[in-house]
Amino acid sequence: MKMRAIASLLAGCLLEFSTASPVQSALQELQPASHQRHALSGRFLHITDLHPDPYYKIGSSTEESKACHGGKGMAGVYGAETSDCDTPYSLINATFKWIKENIKDDIDFVVWTGDSARHDSDEHIPRTQKEVLNTNRWVAEKFAETFSKPNDPTNSLSIPIISTFGNNDILPHNILLSGPNKWLKSYKDIWHKFIPEEQRHGFERGGWYYVEVIPHKLAVFSLNTLYFFNNNAAVDGCSLRSEPGFEHFEWLRIQLQFMRERGMKAILTGHVPPARTDSKKLWDETCWQKYTLWLQQYRDVVVGGLYGHMNIDHFMLQDTKEIDILDAEETAASRFIRASLDDELTIQSANDYLEELRENWSTLPNPAAVIKEEPDHVEGDKKKKGKKSKKDKLLKKIGGPWGERFQVTNVGPSLVPNYFPTLRVIEYNITGLENAVIWADAQSVSASQKMDWLEEVVHASNPKEEHEEGISIDEDDEESILKKKKKKGKKKKPSNPDLTVPSPPSKSSPPGPAYSPQSLTMLGYTQYFANLTYINNAHFVDSEDVEADKWREGKHKGKKPSDKDPKPRPFQYQVEYDTFSDPVFKLKDMTVRSYLKLAHRIGKYLPEKGDSIDDLDEADNDEYDDPAANDEDNNDDDGTDADKKKKKKEKHKKKKHHKQKEKNKVWLQFIQRAFVGTLSDEELRTFDYQDQAPVMDLSEAHDGEL
Ligand SMILES: *[C@@H]1O[C@H](CO)[C@@H](O)[C@H](O)[C@H]1NC(C)=O
Ligand SMILES: *[C@@H]1O[C@H](CO)[C@@H](O)[C@H](O)[C@H]1NC(C)=O
Ligand SMILES: *[C@@H]1O[C@H](CO)[C@@H](O)[C@H](O)[C@H]1NC(C)=O
Ligand SMILES: *[C@@H]1O[C@H](CO)[C@@H](O)[C@H](O)[C@H]1NC(C)=O
Repeated sequence: MKMRAIASLLAGCLLEFSTASPVQSALQELQPASHQRHALSGRFLHITDLHPDPYYKIGSSTEESKACHGGKGMAGVYGAETSDCDTPYSLINATFKWIKENIKDDIDFVVWTGDSARHDSDEHIPRTQKEVLNTNRWVAEKFAETFSKPNDPTNSLSIPIISTFGNNDILPHNILLSGPNKWLKSYKDIWHKFIPEEQRHGFERGGWYYVEVIPHKLAVFSLNTLYFFNNNAAVDGCSLRSEPGFEHFEWLRIQLQFMRERGMKAILTGHVPPARTDSKKLWDETCWQKYTLWLQQYRDVVVGGLYGHMNIDHFMLQDTKEIDILDAEETAASRFIRASLDDELTIQSANDYLEELRENWSTLPNPAAVIKEEPDHVEGDKKKKGKKSKKDKLLKKIGGPWGERFQVTNVGPSLVPNYFPTLRVIEYNITGLENAVIWADAQSVSASQKMDWLEEVVHASNPKEEHEEGISIDEDDEESILKKKKKKGKKKKPSNPDLTVPSPPSKSSPPGPAYSPQSLTMLGYTQYFANLTYINNAHFVDSEDVEADKWREGKHKGKKPSDKDPKPRPFQYQVEYDTFSDPVFKLKDMTVRSYLKLAHRIGKYLPEKGDSIDDLDEADNDEYDDPAANDEDNNDDDGTDADKKKKKKEKHKKKKHHKQKEKNKVWLQFIQRAFVGTLSDEELRTFDYQDQAPVMDLSEAHDGEL
């Protein structure tokens, strides 16, 4: 390895004229022990919503009043799958053991997006500050232990771990005051191995930090989304200077600007995602506005966003066309929306939210059509012109060749077995990073002057980074947007004089890793799950049926344990699906354009009674990708023979039906995966008919996580 060779070479040189150089000892530490990796693997782990419950009792009742803390029922050895109960310690232990044995040595960093305390769902055992901090400390120690260097007396981490607050990691849940405060101080302590030393002070103030997971190349940001969260009654959005949310975005803007200047990229992570449909807005609108604007302006820097909280396997898009903080009049409108949302009491269900999202996605432009319309040089001038304008129109719709109008947020499903316990390994492109200094090595050379020195060495050994041809997007870029907005707003006073709009990427800079496939672009992921029904191996007898309820008692509802003790099978995670070989989602990579294509396909669904994934299995997969096939109108109908026409029509109808099934298949797969494969065919079939699917109702006991 190059780095190693240079390091030892230089260490050798230095020995000649200096015996006690700090650089020399730093380099000695760089000498790789044989058991330690010194190259990137191109993978990382995303794990979220662990919710360990110290009161979980095997064989207790999953009823709401018991919450797996007492009574007699079907609470399994490794958890009560598909219920609202929290996580037994056995599942946490087994999960870390599995990670240690199966993926620990094969990943570059860990993203852990919060909620490491149980829910406040048992009124007989209210949570205490001590318990919330203790379970958090326990989980943090599990991470540190699992990812510590072997045979290292100081127990230092082998790879970086990025933690963040969940709304249940504080007391009372959801409510976090601006810092500094005792919670931020406690977590600064609990996460001291994860938060870089020089950022601990800042963390204590706002609960945010970042880690250079690949020094000088890639940073992972831990955002404190509790300051954006609509349910946090202690704060008020992100537009007022006095609010911690405001300061958070100022910090983020400045850091992302630094990242740009240093040629680095950034992954943003947090607990509560920016979910936003008409009826479901997890973030305060003013925070969503800034986030979307910041990501638009730093689209050359941001690789993607990873969140948790919702417990489902999910993704969402931010549409930059919805940015209105630059416009005085529309800001007033968004304030109105916010005010009308203050009554949080409506019972929302996963169904409602997902249905609503699908409706919104049904209006998405089809990026596949744009790709299909790539210029054709052999054609005649006239035709070319016509084609070009059509292509331009399509490009404008998606904001440029890479879908720059949109941003993607990925939501990892939970470990707590509200469905099945699950975790995700994401792969990213490490082309060109073969000689990158890895985090653990940079740690051992912690002093910054040593780092700078090292960087120079590495830089000198690397050929100059090639600069790609700049790809200019259409004129609708932010500068002209800003100008237009200004004109539109006439001489009106800007609605928010405190708003500093981040600078856009330079005209010549190529699109970022979220948009065009390149080094650090996320490529795809493998979703692992543990089938607790199989593993718990519970024996049961039927009991009387119980009324449908907001609280979910899980799939064993209405059953009683038999006299036989459960004999759990060996615990293991298995692959639920991976996006690399998945024939339904067909995600080529995790770029915005790939997700836009998928969202467009999901939005093509038409509710049809009796749909199930199995029915659709034999459908032909390739057909869908042909954008022409989506044009339902048949214009080339010039035949005069009525019979012929009729036949054609019938054929067309049949084809149309087949195509519709294809479309529905994507939506149903999206739903099935949202719930980690726990839906029966029957439940999936009735997904559209909410009164028939009480099992999917959202538990408000969990504070509208969805
Ligand atoms: C989980 O592991 C801890 C050690 O980290 C151990 O003390 C505890 O007994 C284990 N609990 C269960 C239920 O396996
Ligand atoms: C979603 O669609 C609804 C109409 O179905 C529309 O009122 C709303 O503005 C859309 N929202 C977003 C975020 O696109
Ligand atoms: C990874 O990045 C390299 C360098 O930018 C690029 O050539 C390659 O196509 C990318 N690989 C994938 C699978 O996207
Ligand atoms: C989980 O295991 C149960 C019991 O063996 C089985 O019936 C079910 O199909 C499995 N579910 C999945 C998603 O593999």
